[in-house]
Formats: sequence, structure tokens, C-alpha cells
Amino acid sequence: MEIVEERGSIEHLLESLPREKDWVSNGNGFILYDGFWMPPKFLPRVLSFQHHYKAEPSDIFLITLPKCGTTWLKALVFSIVNRHRFSLSDSPLLRQNPHAVVRSFESDLDLQDPKSYLEGLPRPRIISTHLPYHALPPSVRTSGCKIVSIVRDPRDQFVSSWKFTDKVCHDYTTIRPIEECFDLFCRGVHNSGPFWDYFLGSWNASLERPDEVFVTRYEEMKVSPVSETKKLATFLGLPFTEEEDRERVAEEIVKLCSFDNLKGLEVNKQGRRPVGVPHEAFFRKGEVGNWTDYLTSSMADRLQKIMDDKFANSDLLTFYHPTNSNNEDCA
Ligand code: A3P
Repeated sequence: MEIVEERGSIEHLLESLPREKDWVSNGNGFILYDGFWMPPKFLPRVLSFQHHYKAEPSDIFLITLPKCGTTWLKALVFSIVNRHRFSLSDSPLLRQNPHAVVRSFESDLDLQDPKSYLEGLPRPRIISTHLPYHALPPSVRTSGCKIVSIVRDPRDQFVSSWKFTDKVCHDYTTIRPIEECFDLFCRGVHNSGPFWDYFLGSWNASLERPDEVFVTRYEEMKVSPVSETKKLATFLGLPFTEEEDRERVAEEIVKLCSFDNLKGLEVNKQGRRPVGVPHEAFFRKGEVGNWTDYLTSSMADRLQKIMDDKFANSDLLTFYHPTNSNNEDCA
């Protein structure tokens, strides 16, 4: 690992990895590293992170496939953890985009001095990443720290990714037609894909180690945000007290972090992340079932077959199966 951190070695590694085309024309494509696809520009940070990160038992990891609700989860976890530090009426979320409040190491890790960056983060460290469970730095799985993830109907996740990429690529290129991107998605070629490995990795870990890994579902969060927020707080070892229940603190956190509230804040209507993504791009529709506006029935059938096959032995199939109307009901 020391070796690959040297620029020449990273370039050598890059050349040796499988490649696939990008969702945008003239993009840099995707590389397959450690069993998942990612843009090549992330490799130095991923290697540095895997090598330098020494987990502490108090760390909280948010591991999410892009477009499954990362922004929402960041806002909720930050609010739960810091509820005694900041009153909700003075929350940093009112002045800062959730991605500035909880950093993602893929875009924020200081490559010049990764150790100091990671050690300097306020405690408890809340760290967000799109790395799949299996690719986390080894100490994360042995330190007893908390890992939180969210899964989402892959059909909605695909549409959300396609619309997001379309929006953010406009300054420099164009997105490929939806059919082409969909084909790549169905072959697992998307940021941190394949989605089935990503979801199953964290889902199965949550069944095996429920004290250390918690997975919620975007659809469940939409239907029962307060009860999911309470479960999340309990999992993090910070359950709401009876007094907090009487003061409806969980309800207030849910309100602060709701799609409509965050989308409507001035800070999220303007400005950009340091990587150039406009804040408003993280808040599109926030609905369940929006895929029906974009996928043809043959596309939906193809994806359903993939889910039937990949999720065959998992509860995930029950959630994302046409016979279960739960997901469509709660849009
Ligand atoms: P849509 O594109 O379907 O609207 P991520 O945060 O992982 O990038 O995911 C983005 C998706 O979550 C987008 O979905 C976005 O609109 C939605 N989203 C962002 N903030 C949300 C919130 N507070 N509540 C519900 N959905 C939210």
C-alpha cells in the first residue's frame, strides 16, 4: 500500500485495472478497484484512506451508495449526535449544506496530510464515504465503531443518479442517453456499483452485527421518519430520553432535516461544493417511485430480473418486488 501511494505507482495501478465507459461523453470512465466501480480520480484518496484511517470506537461511519439519501442521512445523524451542542434553532444545517457539515472523504480528505486531517476532525468523528462495506479500512470493522447505511429502490436510485449526472455535467459535457446509462447500471457500472453488492454487503453485515451496523431504507424513512430517527439514535447509543420525547425532539429533528425544509434554505439554493457541484443538485424531488416517469416497462422488467436474481435470498427482494405495493404507496 505504501508503494501505490507514490504517484508513479498509482498510475501503474490505474493502467492495470479493468475500465468501462463513463455515463457522460468524453468522461474518464470507471475503473474496477477492490470489487467496485469508481471514477479514476477517486483512487488516490481511496488508497490513502484505506491506508491511513485508524478507526476509534466512537467513530460513526455513513456508508452510502450515491443517490440513496446520503444528504438526508448526514443531516439526521449530525443533528442526533450534536443535539446537546447546538439547539435546533441554531443548527449549523441552517447555514451550511449537509455535505459541509459532515465531510465525505472522497472529496474532502487532504491528500497532502491525510493523517492530520483525519486526526483533527471533531469527536465523535462522523465520516461519510461511498466505499462499500467490504472495502472499508480494516480497523473500521474491528474497532467496534458504528456504521450506518441506507438502501433505496434501485429503480429510483438509477433515475436519481441519471438526473444528477445530467445536471452537474452540463458545464463541460453531456450525459449519454438514458438507455445507455441504464445498460451500464444493469451491468453494475456506476459510482460504487454494482448496487446489488453494495446493498447486500451492508445489509448482511447489519444482520450479522446489529450492534455495529444499522441499515435503514429510504422508503421506510419516508413513511416513518420519526420512528426511524429514534431507532437510529438508539443504535448510536444516544437514545431520546423521556423528557426529549415529551419535548418532541425527534419530531423537530425530522422537520429540520426534511426534504422541503432543507431544499428551501437559502444556503441550499445557492453555492457549490468545493468540487463544483451546486448545493441545489442534492435536492431534486425526494420522492418514492419517480422511476415510473423515466423507465419503460422493458427497462423495469430487466432491472426486476436482476433484483430477483441478486436479492434472491435476502429481505431486500421482499421490499423491492412488484407484489409489494408498500414502496409505491408512500410516494
Ligand atoms: P431524487 O433525485 O430522487 O430526488 P444523495 O443525498 O445520496 O445524493 O441522494 C440524493 C437523493 O435524495 C435525491 O433524490 C434527493 O432529492 C433526495 N434527498 C435529498 N435530501 C433529502 C431529504 N432531506 N429527504 C428526502 N430525500 C432527500
